[in-house]
Formats: sequence, C-alpha cells, structure tokens
Amino acid sequence: MAQAEMTPAKITTCVFDAYGTLFDVAGAARAAAEAPGQDRLAALWPALSADWRRKQLEYSWLRAITGDHCSFWQVTQDGLNWAMARHGLEDPGLRETLLGLYWQLPAYPEVPQLLASLKARGLGCAILSNGSPDMLDGAVSSAGIAEHLDAVLSVEEVGIFKPARPVYDLVGTHFGTDPAQVLFVSSNGWDAAGAAAYGFVTAWVNRAGEPMDCLSGRPHHVLPDLTTIPELL
Ligand code: LAC
Repeated sequence: MAQAEMTPAKITTCVFDAYGTLFDVAGAARAAAEAPGQDRLAALWPALSADWRRKQLEYSWLRAITGDHCSFWQVTQDGLNWAMARHGLEDPGLRETLLGLYWQLPAYPEVPQLLASLKARGLGCAILSNGSPDMLDGAVSSAGIAEHLDAVLSVEEVGIFKPARPVYDLVGTHFGTDPAQVLFVSSNGWDAAGAAAYGFVTAWVNRAGEPMDCLSGRPHHVLPDLTTIPELL
C-alpha cells in the first residue's frame, strides 16, 4: 500500500494550452506587417502584438474575478482596440486584417510531429483553452492538426476563464482521468502554475526565457520548446 502510494501515476493524457503554446500569437501582427505599405506596422508590430496579448489576458482575468464572463473573442477584440490606440494605429481596415489573421495563427513548427508521436504512443491528446470553440476550430483546421486531437475543450463549457479550477475539471470530465494522469503543457507561466496547483503534472514551455511566475503552483518541468515532451512520459 505504501509502495503503491509512492509510485507516480502513469500519464495517459497530454493536454495543451492553445494560444502561445501550440499557436504563435505573434503570427497575426507579423503577417500583417509583411503586407506592402505597412511600414509603420513593420517597425512596431512586436510591441503591438505584446500589448494586444497582455491586454487580452488581463481582460480575461478581470472578467473571471468580477464574474463578468464573455467569449475569448470579445477580450481578443478589446485587447486589440487598446493596443492599437496605445500605438496610434486607429485604422479599421488594419484592425479587421489582424482579427482575421487571429483565426489562422501559425502552429509552432514542431507541433504536428509532436502530436502525431503522442498519438502513436497511445496517449490521449487534447487542447484546453480559453478560446471559444469557433476560434479554436479555425486555428486547429488552419494548422491541419485536427486528426491528432481527441478533444478540443473550451472554457465556454464552464463560463469562466483560466486559471479558475472548473476549467481544469473539464479534462477529468471528458477523459475520466485523475489529475496525476494528465500532463498539462502551457507556455503561459500563470496557466502552468494554476494547472500545477490543481494537481496536473505540468510542463511550462518557456520560449522567451522569462522568470518563473511567483505563484503557489510550480511547474514540474520547464522546457525551451515542445520537442522534448515525449521524454517526460
Ligand atoms: C489559452 C490562452 C490562455 O489558449 O492562451 O487558453
């Protein structure tokens, strides 16, 4: 009995955050800046993109704290409005272009091969995201990874954003897993912390070399990208 309690549970299911983890959220502003005549955007797209992402997430947390839920598409638009105003880019045509591109963000290059190899090993594979189901469908189809995913779980089922615990409950509800059987992978330090505090085995993908978030949950693994995930299993 004591021995059984000490043996770690076998990981049966890999669950990925979507935006920033599988899909490169900078891809929309980067692609818009490559269009002819976008000289100003070409100079400032990294800052615009970072502000857009920061505000999108801040609005998601504020709406979770205040019980004022809306779709992730709404906070995505609101975050972009703020970021464009901050950079003096109030151009409705550019706004539409950036929003359109958000529905077809590029996946990181290692994603299709990684998901295929996890499926080949018999693991369950899923996305668990703040994204609304229609946004996630767009990104998953555009990246061509639908065939490798057993489920695309959206916070819309519970009506609150991460890192609220009912979101992480969606995994067990869908797969019948205990938290310790789940490897949860996120590039967002706060999401990895929330998932670790919940009880998932957690990998934080720290592409930008950021310091670890000072929160109560600590990820079990810190990786530079997604390529070494199979080694954790
Ligand atoms: C998501 C956000 C947090 O995909 O990036 O849930």
